[in-house]
Amino acid sequence: MNIQQSIGVFDSGYGGLTVFKSIVRKLPKYNYIYFGDNARTPYGDHSFETIYQYTLECVEWLFAQGCPLVILACNTASAKALRSIQQNILPFKYPNHRVLGVIRPTAEIVGDFTNTKSIGVMGTRGTINSESYLMEINKFFPGIKVAQQSCPMWVPLIENDEHRSAGADYFVKKYVDQLLAKDEHIDCIVLACTHYPLLVPKIKEVLPEHISLLAQDDIVADSLALYLVNHPEIENKISKQGQQQFFTSGDPKAFDASASIFFGKQIISEHASFSK
Ligand code: DGL
Repeated sequence: MNIQQSIGVFDSGYGGLTVFKSIVRKLPKYNYIYFGDNARTPYGDHSFETIYQYTLECVEWLFAQGCPLVILACNTASAKALRSIQQNILPFKYPNHRVLGVIRPTAEIVGDFTNTKSIGVMGTRGTINSESYLMEINKFFPGIKVAQQSCPMWVPLIENDEHRSAGADYFVKKYVDQLLAKDEHIDCIVLACTHYPLLVPKIKEVLPEHISLLAQDDIVADSLALYLVNHPEIENKISKQGQQQFFTSGDPKAFDASASIFFGKQIISEHASFSK
């Protein structure tokens, strides 16, 4: 079955499913294709050029499946590839297609969640080193102080289904402590990686109670809903049979087992190869 005219949702692996789940809950009528590049995950430690090349391949694959709109449900891809794709690829090669990311909608509302005007941002090395959150938050809330922390072990723990294990405790505490040592006034932490909601129970165990966690699932779903209202030329193209398809560049059986945990219901995926 090949669904034409779907909204494409992309992540390097499973993480985007935390966002996708929220999108489907909020906007169930649309057709969707989720694509996880599990064969090449994690993206977080790769160079700018590699992340850009991988992300572009996946976006073009989703375009070829009939997605006029693709959401990069991945902070690393949003930080490293989104702007180049929007500025250098779409206007020349795909003038009628759109690609949206997850950083801007998060940065736009972060000010509502802090009283102390000090927030923490936790993400992959790629996201943190890009300084995208520093720049975007500064645009909307110049008075907010942002402390950043990269957490290179968190995505591998999650992708390998070790995020509930005792072994994860060490790395959760390590990065949370490192972040809090940077600014004692932090009262809100942005989980700037779509994988991290899976670690929330463990993060809460080590986090002082007065510090809140901000995950992106509902933020991105709300922002997509608004986008579709404001862009009828795109909204009109999307089929509305409420269908969802899942593809992975990795092994579909392994994907289905883990993805069902992220998505909260059973998933049957297909293998995607880039020549498809
Ligand atoms: N979910 C991706 C993100 O939001 C994970 C990146 C990775 O593959 O390292 O950044």
